[in-house]
Amino acid sequence: MKYHIVTFGCQMNVHDSEKIAGILEEKGYEVTDKKEDADIIVFNTCAIREGAEDRVFGNVGALKKMKRERPSLIIAVCGCMTQKQETAEKMKAKFPFVDIIMGTFNMTKLSEYIDRVREQKKRLLELYEEGDIDELLPYKRTSGDNAWVNIMQGCNNFCTYCIVPYVRGREKSREEESILKEIKELVATGQYKKITLLGQNVNSYGKDLKEPVSFAKLLSDICKIEGDFKIWFMTSHPKDLSDEVIDVIAKEDKILKDIHLPAQSGNNRILALMNRKYTREKYLEIIDKIRAKIPNCRITSDFIVGFPTETEEEFNDTYSLIEQVRYDSIFAFIYSPRIGTVASKMEGQIDEKVKHERVNKLLKLEKKIQKEDNKK
Ligand code: SAH
Ligand code: SF4
Ligand code: F3S
Repeated sequence: MKYHIVTFGCQMNVHDSEKIAGILEEKGYEVTDKKEDADIIVFNTCAIREGAEDRVFGNVGALKKMKRERPSLIIAVCGCMTQKQETAEKMKAKFPFVDIIMGTFNMTKLSEYIDRVREQKKRLLELYEEGDIDELLPYKRTSGDNAWVNIMQGCNNFCTYCIVPYVRGREKSREEESILKEIKELVATGQYKKITLLGQNVNSYGKDLKEPVSFAKLLSDICKIEGDFKIWFMTSHPKDLSDEVIDVIAKEDKILKDIHLPAQSGNNRILALMNRKYTREKYLEIIDKIRAKIPNCRITSDFIVGFPTETEEEFNDTYSLIEQVRYDSIFAFIYSPRIGTVASKMEGQIDEKVKHERVNKLLKLEKKIQKEDNKK
């Protein structure tokens, strides 16, 4: 019996897929890289932009013929996209050949769902509203010498464009002890040279614990673990990146000098509309601090162009921020309205053509900066 997993979206999803693989291997399945050879195909989906959702519908839809020819094939869809009730229902109605539809919080029940589908020969749609990180399930790690380590789940920030808080729930940190234990075990295998800590906003790690622990403390405690390994983490929210965290990164050799610090926009009115809770000036202050304390630190960022009501001048502020910071690399995204978010209901949605022009300008600028800096 063989399984094939198709993963969309961010590193969190990549890591969740390692859990899905763990569940399936415990059940006796073996991995295959060919859908044609699989007895179960799992799609782990992303809802961040419309394009991501369209790709999932396209990919799942393409399996219709395969399922007709091989009715015993089980098709499951899980993740952020199907965590939304409407989308899950749409998926169920549109693709009668999909057997299992579940969300992010009940993904760990996959094994039980497979048994139910096999025994009852009935389709199944099940979503939970919240859930804890299940620490007991094994991961089948697939990222070479890098090991992903979840330190928290969810997000409390509700940036007005973003679907994540609706599909991943509120921030929940893992106990420090349990994170340290996991990393110690990973390092002891000798196989993992890079430990990547994952969370939507790692800088607010530990604030929700009964006995709060700061992200800076977690980092320095991880550095005390003996062994030859490096630590990286993502994502940092500028509003929560403390001086202590910058100091720890500067001090500890084990921490990679590489910070992903999404700015999203360089204009204060847009930043406020996005509910980002910092200004351009505050953001630049943090960049200055990083540059002063951590020479040659790699800095990268995400940007969204065409947020509702963004004018050409306001877009130019984003352009000039990138020119000023001279990032090592950026991700530039076209704003995509997500149903249920505050921004999707705002007046003044921007024309698609204008959004494309703006994103292309940013990507051209990124290339220009990289070329100049590479020359240096
Ligand atoms: N938690 C991280 C990243 C979350 S999603 C953070 O706060 O930075 C990754 C990136 O997707 C975001 O940084 C943002 O640039 C982009 N993004 C999120 N929602 C989007 C939307 N509706 N349209 C376009 N890009 C979006
Ligand atoms: Fe989305 Fe903002 Fe949370 Fe990041 S911090 S996941 S962009 S709501
Ligand atoms: Fe990640 Fe996409 Fe979900 S970016 S958290 S997989 S919506």
